[in-house]
Amino acid sequence: MRMVDIIDKKRNGGELTKEEIQTFVDGVVSGEIPDYQTSAFLMATYFKDMTDAERSELTMAMMKSGDHLDLSSIDGLKVDKHSTGGVGDKTSIPLAPIVAALGIPVPMISGRGLGHTGGTLDKLEAIPGYQVEISEADFIKQVQNQGLAIVGATGNIAPADKKIYALRDVTDTVDSIPLIASSIMSKKIASGTDALVIDVKTGSGAFMKTLDDSRELAKALVGIGKGVGMNCMAIISDMNQPLGNAIGNALEIKESIDLLKGQAPADITDLVLTLGSYMVVMSGKTDNMAEARKMCEQTIEDGSALKKFGDMIEAQGGDRSVIDHPEIMPQAKYKIPLPAKTSGVVSRVEADEMGVASMLLGGGRQKADDQLDYAVGIMMNKKVGDKVDAGEPLLTIYSDRENVDDIKDLLYANIEISDSAKPFTLIHETVR
Ligand code: URA
Repeated sequence: MRMVDIIDKKRNGGELTKEEIQTFVDGVVSGEIPDYQTSAFLMATYFKDMTDAERSELTMAMMKSGDHLDLSSIDGLKVDKHSTGGVGDKTSIPLAPIVAALGIPVPMISGRGLGHTGGTLDKLEAIPGYQVEISEADFIKQVQNQGLAIVGATGNIAPADKKIYALRDVTDTVDSIPLIASSIMSKKIASGTDALVIDVKTGSGAFMKTLDDSRELAKALVGIGKGVGMNCMAIISDMNQPLGNAIGNALEIKESIDLLKGQAPADITDLVLTLGSYMVVMSGKTDNMAEARKMCEQTIEDGSALKKFGDMIEAQGGDRSVIDHPEIMPQAKYKIPLPAKTSGVVSRVEADEMGVASMLLGGGRQKADDQLDYAVGIMMNKKVGDKVDAGEPLLTIYSDRENVDDIKDLLYANIEISDSAKPFTLIHETVR
């Protein structure tokens, strides 16, 4: 079977067979298919989509390209959460310790930044010493001992996704339902979790810009999970403006720590507690969402979630003193305010362009092998619905270069001040 024929079939809108999809995935993993053909296939899929059957076959072929973790030696029902990616979305970082502090094992396999969105692994690497690449045996041992781990997919978890993910990032083929669904679910099925809550983002900062597309993605993800017997559900949450105030790796770690101290902005706190409540219910600890939420809140109030976070950092080689001394993370040379040009109410903050600005400052990758600058990013001083006076800072740019005129132009073009703002909804729907 020639790869060029498979590309041709997809390019012309045909439905690929199981064997054709298998040939593609095998060739990607073995390196027999060159990046230019993989890229052409990804672009053809981007434009022609895939049927439900193709989406499942691609997921399973990617999943089987590597190991299937056996978590049966870890007591209890294992629960995980995955986000489709957003701007300022540091949810996993405080969420895992909150849920683990309740005695629920959280084996979390996370990803790196993709396009304008940040990645949990990149953020955690802002903590001095934190290792995201650990062996499968150590991953399992850590979840047994500490109740949680946040790691990258090891070389053997869905290796096909590793290659495809990196190519999608640089070929503008990220925002595709079959490619996102197969990427997420291949890793989640291989990681051996029992239950999964998926946070599907919708809006300008998400890969899916409309509620309809987000719903279709949520259904595809949940459908694939249920198809293999996983207890799986999704929420669709808003990503029209950044989540929380912090965008950028070290800044988002600091905001995650603040959340675990009960001092974070309302939107990110609410989302973390909602996702945590679903995870607690799925674990079987209670069937009552209000009670589950109280249990999550309690771990913040009594400090047990913060302690769990410290335990995880230490177990993964990081310096847990970051909890009280976030300044041990890389710090930006310049903090440059962006003053409002007029008075009024903030009515629009384009999340994707805030993410692009952080990326251009060095906080994200423009090419697959770019080195990150963990210190840089943006702190929002105002969000949608906030009143602002002319001259007051809308946000603060954290930069290692003094001249950020290009970034300022981009940011001004993507923040609107009007007389009023539409009410903001954080969680749009749940999909079961
Ligand atoms: N997260 C993933 O793991 N894969 C995607 O394609 C998008 C978000």
